[in-house]
Amino acid sequence: MRVIIEKTAAQAELRTARIMADMIRSKPQAVLGLATGGTPVNVYQELVRQHQEEDLDFSGIKTFNLDEYVGLGPKHPQSFRFFMQENLFDHVNIDPAQTHVPDGRALDFDGHCRHYEQRIAEAGGIDLQLLGIGVDGHIAFNEPGSSLGSRTRLKTLAGETIRQNEKYFPEGEQVPRLALTMGVGTILESRSCLLLATGSHKASAIRSMVEGPVTAQITASALQLHREVTVIVDEAAGGWLERRDYYADVEACHQLLETGQLRALGIGN
Ligand code: PGA
Repeated sequence: MRVIIEKTAAQAELRTARIMADMIRSKPQAVLGLATGGTPVNVYQELVRQHQEEDLDFSGIKTFNLDEYVGLGPKHPQSFRFFMQENLFDHVNIDPAQTHVPDGRALDFDGHCRHYEQRIAEAGGIDLQLLGIGVDGHIAFNEPGSSLGSRTRLKTLAGETIRQNEKYFPEGEQVPRLALTMGVGTILESRSCLLLATGSHKASAIRSMVEGPVTAQITASALQLHREVTVIVDEAAGGWLERRDYYADVEACHQLLETGQLRALGIGN
């Protein structure tokens, strides 16, 4: 796991967007896994800016979102399909037919989820999966206790998740209790993962994910088993990491390598 601690949330968001943009530029037919929630909003805003001002080209890109609330259609303002249209898809030159979000109105849950997995496989698998993390350590809607081998399926949301997400719903409107979500096993099959977390309310989950044991109680901890994960946090979200000095050291060495300052690394002295 590569852990990058940026000073501010804005810097963490920008770093995340740049990694995604680099993927789009280096592989114009890339398959991206996308996330919703408060965390990635500014990441998408930066990608839209790069599309508008720097010709970032989405025409060959395919996307698969992590999850969707059961019961909400694409026109519902709190549905994740609506979120994606508003925050990204409607503002870039992506082919709408190549954007995939689980269908919150599908009632054949098993069939729909199997089909979703099949579409990911047919696309050649996910090149880069963007992730957030819940305060309970979930990735996508894989709540504590989810099997680390789980696939896309119906999931009951934890009370903590429902409370966290209430702020996005108008007062008095019920937060859905069920979701369709990629499984931990599905996410682990992505060729690379990029997890962004900002704010002190994520500090405990980040610490457990990066430095705790691998456990189904913190499903994000399964990323320790993945061979290519980048975790980007601001100082608040990284505040509980015990080995943050080491992570900073790793970044400093990366910088020296990338800029060819080999002598500073003891190479060729
Ligand atoms: P948030 O959600 O970005 O709204 O904090 C993250 C998550 O639950 O995965």
